[in-house]
Amino acid sequence: MMGTGIAQSLALAGCRVRLNDVAPERLQASVNTIEHGRFGLRRGVERGKVTAAAADEALARITTTVSLEDACAGIDLAIEAVPEDLTLKCDVFRRLDQAAPPAAILTSNAAGLPITALAWATGRPERVLGWHWAQPVAVIRLAELVAHPRTAQEAIDYVSELARRCGKNPIVVKDQPDSWGYVANRINRAVRLEARRVVEEGVASEDQVDEIMRDCFRWPMGPFEMQRPGSM
Ligand SMILES: NC(=O)c1ccc[n+]([C@@H]2O[C@H](COP(=O)([O-])OP(=O)(O)OC[C@H]3O[C@@H](n4cnc5c(N)ncnc54)[C@H](O)[C@@H]3O)[C@@H](O)[C@H]2O)c1
Repeated sequence: MMGTGIAQSLALAGCRVRLNDVAPERLQASVNTIEHGRFGLRRGVERGKVTAAAADEALARITTTVSLEDACAGIDLAIEAVPEDLTLKCDVFRRLDQAAPPAAILTSNAAGLPITALAWATGRPERVLGWHWAQPVAVIRLAELVAHPRTAQEAIDYVSELARRCGKNPIVVKDQPDSWGYVANRINRAVRLEARRVVEEGVASEDQVDEIMRDCFRWPMGPFEMQRPGSM
């Protein structure tokens, strides 16, 4: 899901993108979503957000492959977006390290796993950082860049500039391997826990909590609305 939106965003920003997945049908579905999905390029043209020429050019910049090695040939940057499983991500980072050119920067769209662990699964920890995107990628400005103590400033600068080209607002935060989540998800989790507590204590209903948070803090949607399928 996330890799699809990320590929679209980077292709629109002018990057050549190779989408890699172990499942060929997911690659086919991704390309279809990029072209025809709710936040895809054709809808973007209909809404006047993207020109037809820019959409065509972006599509032409995207290729797909089930081979990680082929995907990594000659790249400047990798963005890993496999499921949120530390063992799996460490394994993918080991393989990226072997397949990508030595100067390539390796990033992870992990939602909360320790970037330090991914960095030390490679022989280039200074070129590893987190790049946390949010769904729907085409519209949410989040670019939470997660640096561990050895991440090189040059790598942070490179990814920050690329995030800006994608229309995002890069904010660099520190990796904290002892707790799950960086900033967005840690705070969101605390809000959700307190919202649940308020409902369980019988203080207010879910709908009332949502309405109060919208009215009081001008949130676009409340904590319970946010968790409903299709809301984001
Ligand atoms: N879904 C969200 O809203 C969201 C938001 C921010 C961050 N994230 C994070 O992004 C990451 C991906 O989440 P998602 O929701 O896109 O998951 P997803 O399950 O929709 O997609 C993961 C993809 O990875 C592929 N895959 C599995 N193993 C692989 C491997 N070894 N090599 C290549 N591809 C492999 C799967 O076939 C699948 O297509 C997770 O770390 C998640 O926590 C998700």
